[in-house]
Amino acid sequence: MYVQKIPWEANYDESQMPVYTLPDPLRCQDGSTVKTADEWMKKRRGELLRMFKDVMYGELPPLPDRVRYELLSEKRDARGGKAIRREVRIHLEMNNGRSHHIDMLYYLPAKASGKVPVFVGLTFIGNHVITDEPDARITGTAGDQEGNPINRERGFQVRRFPIDTILERGYALAVASYHDVFPDRLTGWETSIYQLFFQGEELKRPKGYSCIGAWAWGISRMLDYLETVPEIDGAKAAVFGHSRLGKTSLWAGVTDERFKLVCVNDSGCGGAALSRRLYGETLFSMCNFHSIGKYWFTETLEAKAAHPEDLPLDQHELIALVAPRAVAVHSAIEDQWADPKGEYLSAYYAGPVFRLFGKTPLESENPPEIEHPVGTDVSYYCRNGKHDLLLSDWQHYMDMADRIFGK
Ligand code: GCU
Repeated sequence: MYVQKIPWEANYDESQMPVYTLPDPLRCQDGSTVKTADEWMKKRRGELLRMFKDVMYGELPPLPDRVRYELLSEKRDARGGKAIRREVRIHLEMNNGRSHHIDMLYYLPAKASGKVPVFVGLTFIGNHVITDEPDARITGTAGDQEGNPINRERGFQVRRFPIDTILERGYALAVASYHDVFPDRLTGWETSIYQLFFQGEELKRPKGYSCIGAWAWGISRMLDYLETVPEIDGAKAAVFGHSRLGKTSLWAGVTDERFKLVCVNDSGCGGAALSRRLYGETLFSMCNFHSIGKYWFTETLEAKAAHPEDLPLDQHELIALVAPRAVAVHSAIEDQWADPKGEYLSAYYAGPVFRLFGKTPLESENPPEIEHPVGTDVSYYCRNGKHDLLLSDWQHYMDMADRIFGK
């Protein structure tokens, strides 16, 4: 049987996996079993959410004393007349004088007849990587560091953002750089949004908080603003994210119930994938061989990462916390590091909770064929190819959004 040890070697052999038992999402800490949607919402949801905060993602940061929005630019004929493009600075301000800002870029379909639904998420690097437009601002420079400057190349990740297709299908798209919220590195705390709330030694790693918690919080602050945009229907918001930002979109979707659709792409370990499977990346490798586990998650997870079998939770319960709203879990077959099967099983085992609400969970314990999306309220899609966010992922997210938002 596979044993996690130093030197690290990932397991890709199902026959070597430990035999594991998943915690029952419906079973309360007092031993009783939830039988109705009402009991779930009033009793179990809260205690499970508490556990995910305590063990994995930490508390959500508080709200700042003041939030102010500054319109940095507006272009009403962007993308050859297809889009209205705006750049907005979200100023987060404290009475004690401390402040922080997040620069958001968003597009609206120019020809929409009424309010439109919106996809909200963070980008790796900066806003400028999702578009070739020469006048889009370069953002995310807080991610710059010696030996590892941010990529200032425009359009570097356009393949991940089929903006025109998203607009043609009648959706708005809003992004901000994750570095603006929490620069993605071990020492990122000091220049993150946490500097609004902590100082000195405490700021080096505020106990009971995490980087993913900050990123998710940042997405909620974006939605606060987007709800005020006249062209956007704030009641029809979807959150999306890829990879570490897929872990983040899942947490944002769980903690912010304004998101009616939660799109989770190639999120892997600490995201949609079951931790107990020990297939591909594990919590142990994340916390012990890469520095990422030491700030993406809480210090509690770091201490417990070697033994996921002892954790009071697993990731199917995180997906369950989205219920009764909708969730779409995506994998890529060549992304074995993220454990596509573990991502599917997690979505599948969240089923009993969705069923309480009369929602349709995934039907089969066996993952579907590659390139065959399945499911309605809980959906799953595994595409061909590598770890990435591609047009076919977006097509499926938008098909799902069309259904959920009744387009
Ligand atoms: C690494 C990491 C993953 C993460 C991914 C990413 O591969 O091990 O957990 O999802 O980076 O965010 O790109």
